[in-house]
Amino acid sequence: MVKSLRPRTLEEFIGQETIKQSLKVFIDSAKARGEPLDHTLFYGPAGLGKTTLAKIISQELNVSLKHTTGPSIEKVADLASILINLSNGDILFIDEIHRLSKAIEEVLYAAMEDFKLPIVAGSGKSTHTIVINLNQFTLIGATTRFGLLSPPLRDRFGIIYHLEPYAPSELGQIVLRTASIFNIKVNERAAELIGLRARGIPRVAIQLLKRVRDFASAEGISVINAEIVLSTFDQLHIDDYGLNDLDRKYLKTIVERFNGGPVGIETLSTALGEDKGTIEDIVEPYLLKVDFILRTPKGRVLTKKALDYLFSKRIIPEDKRNFNTLF
Ligand SMILES: Nc1ncnc2c1ncn2[C@@H]1O[C@H](COP(=O)(O)OP(=O)(O)OP(=O)(O)O)[C@@H](O)[C@H]1O
Ligand SMILES: [Mg+2]
Repeated sequence: MVKSLRPRTLEEFIGQETIKQSLKVFIDSAKARGEPLDHTLFYGPAGLGKTTLAKIISQELNVSLKHTTGPSIEKVADLASILINLSNGDILFIDEIHRLSKAIEEVLYAAMEDFKLPIVAGSGKSTHTIVINLNQFTLIGATTRFGLLSPPLRDRFGIIYHLEPYAPSELGQIVLRTASIFNIKVNERAAELIGLRARGIPRVAIQLLKRVRDFASAEGISVINAEIVLSTFDQLHIDDYGLNDLDRKYLKTIVERFNGGPVGIETLSTALGEDKGTIEDIVEPYLLKVDFILRTPKGRVLTKKALDYLFSKRIIPEDKRNFNTLF
C-alpha cells in the first residue's frame, strides 16, 4: 500500500502531544462503551492538522466520515439530507464551521443535543413541525476563527482542542516523514533547517520541502543538504526568522503608514492590498507567535522586538528609530 501523506493513525501523527494523549483516552472509552465520540471541535491557524485529526478519529473509530464545509450548507434541507444519511457512530466533519448561517446552526443544535431533526412542514395555518429521529453521530467541527462561533454552538461541543503551532524539531520530523513518502533524500540538518523556517506549520514545512526538492533537482543534487536549503530560502526571500516578503511588507507598513499601530485589520488589509483572511490566517498567527505584533482592542501594534528586526535587516533606516515614543 502506498503510504499516505496524511498520517492515518494518532501514532503516526507528529506533535500536539497533549491533544493526542487525551484524544486517545476519549476514543478508547467511546469504543469500549460502544457509543459515539462526543462532539469535537478543533480550532487554530490553517495547516496545523485539523482535517487530518478528524480523519484520524474516523479511522481509529472505524466509522465513516462525511466531509462538508460551513459555506456549502446553504439550506436547512442540505443539512437535513446529510444528517438523515448518517449511520450510527458516523462522523460529520464540518470544516469552516464558523461560516454556517444562523438558521442552519439552530437546526444543528437540536441534532447535536438530542439527535433529533425538527422539520417545519406545511404552510399558513397548517404549519407544523415534524421531528425526525437521527442516528447517533459525532460532529467534528474545524475552524480558524474560534471567536466567530456563536456561544450556543460552542457549548454543544464536549471536546474542544486548540491546536498550537509546532516546535521546529517536530516540523523537522514531519519533513523527514514526508520526504520518505515522496522518495526525496534529505539529510537531518537540512530537515532541521526547513523545520526552523516553517512558521510552526506542517503545511508550510511540506511546501518548503517541495520547493527545496525542485531547486535540488535543477542543480542535480541527489541528497538535499543544508546548502541547498539555504540557497532555496534565499531565492524565495525567506529569512532566518522564517519571514517572507509579505510578512516584511506587513511590518513595514505598520511602521511607515500607521506609526507602529494600533491599526485595525480592515485598514491594514486595504493598505497592503491583501485579502483580510490571508492576513488573519497566514500572516498574523506567526507574527503573534514570535512576539512581533500584539492584538489589542484598538488594533494591531508592533513590538520592540519587531522594530529591532526591521532595523537589523535594514528594512527601515536607523534614523526612524525615534518615530514613535512607544519604542
Ligand atoms: N502532525 C502532523 N504530522 C504530519 N503531517 C501533518 C501533521 N499535521 C498536518 N500535517 C500535514 O499538513 C497538511 C495540512 O494539514 P491539514 O489539512 O490537516 O490542516 P488543517 O488544519 O485542516 O488546515 P486548514 O485550516 O487550512 O483546513 C496535510 O498535508 C497534513 O498531512
Ligand atoms: Mg482543513
